[in-house]
Amino acid sequence: MNVAVVGYGRMGREIELAAGERGHTVTARVDPTATAADYPTVHAAIDAGSIDRDTVVIDFALAAGLVDRVEACAAVGSSLVLGTTGWEAERDAVLAAGAAGGGLVWGSNFSVGANMFARIAAYAAGLAAGAGGYDPAVVELHHRGKQDSPSGTALMIAEEILAAGGEKNRVQPETLHRRIEPEELHVASARVGSVPGTHTVYFDSIADTVELTHRARSRHGFAVGAVQAGEWIRSTGGVRTVKEFFDYLFTGG
Ligand SMILES: NC(=O)c1ccc[n+]([C@@H]2O[C@H](COP(=O)([O-])OP(=O)(O)OC[C@H]3O[C@@H](n4cnc5c(N)ncnc54)[C@H](O)[C@@H]3O)[C@@H](O)[C@H]2O)c1
Repeated sequence: MNVAVVGYGRMGREIELAAGERGHTVTARVDPTATAADYPTVHAAIDAGSIDRDTVVIDFALAAGLVDRVEACAAVGSSLVLGTTGWEAERDAVLAAGAAGGGLVWGSNFSVGANMFARIAAYAAGLAAGAGGYDPAVVELHHRGKQDSPSGTALMIAEEILAAGGEKNRVQPETLHRRIEPEELHVASARVGSVPGTHTVYFDSIADTVELTHRARSRHGFAVGAVQAGEWIRSTGGVRTVKEFFDYLFTGG
């Protein structure tokens, strides 16, 4: 398939590699900061000159201007994988714009391994809730350039733990200068060096600790998942969450 990479930063470059590995062709790179001298196929914006109806657009850029980009994809009729984060305030407008296009799959984590991990953590949380006596918490580490805390992945895992039952009913992402309430699920973040993303879930009891860790080695896992999601969305169409994509990938349904 033909792929347009929107946002030619750290993720965009990984997506280009992953697309090539899976036999696809990157036909356009869209990034307002890249220059044509650097990248002959670079474009400043999404339009009919950079994509066509058969192009799968993969957007890992910045939230600013996202509604315009989704509208531009929809106008051409191309499918869109949306990995850019930080657009919660514009969610309705983005998803409405996507509904008019050739398919949109969106989510804050396209990593196959991290989504596998979230499902394993959810299963473990169900066991811990059934057994009783196990106190869960989530701890995440990321590189010091990361703009948000906690990570979207940590929050995704936390939601799975809350949904599994047990006494936790809300996320507590802050440093506490008081005793934590039994209903609060502590989600702690640290920023250090160039760590691409490490998430650990603890289930702690008087007798022992069950500790599950996912450690990303690079951004490649996100990129491979995003390209696979592109292969899927161009055949299914519609507005889909990344969870629906992984339901398909993990269970075929
Ligand atoms: N969903 C996921 O699985 C996942 C994984 C990793 C990162 N992300 C998200 O992907 C985004 C990019 O992350 P990154 O680490 O590559 O950032 P980055 O800063 O390395 O790259 C972002 C690029 O987007 C470009 N850009 C800015 N505005 C643009 C526009 N209007 N059109 C096209 N390009 C534009 C910037 O010039 C920059 O080159 C962030 O929102 C990040 O949170 C999502």
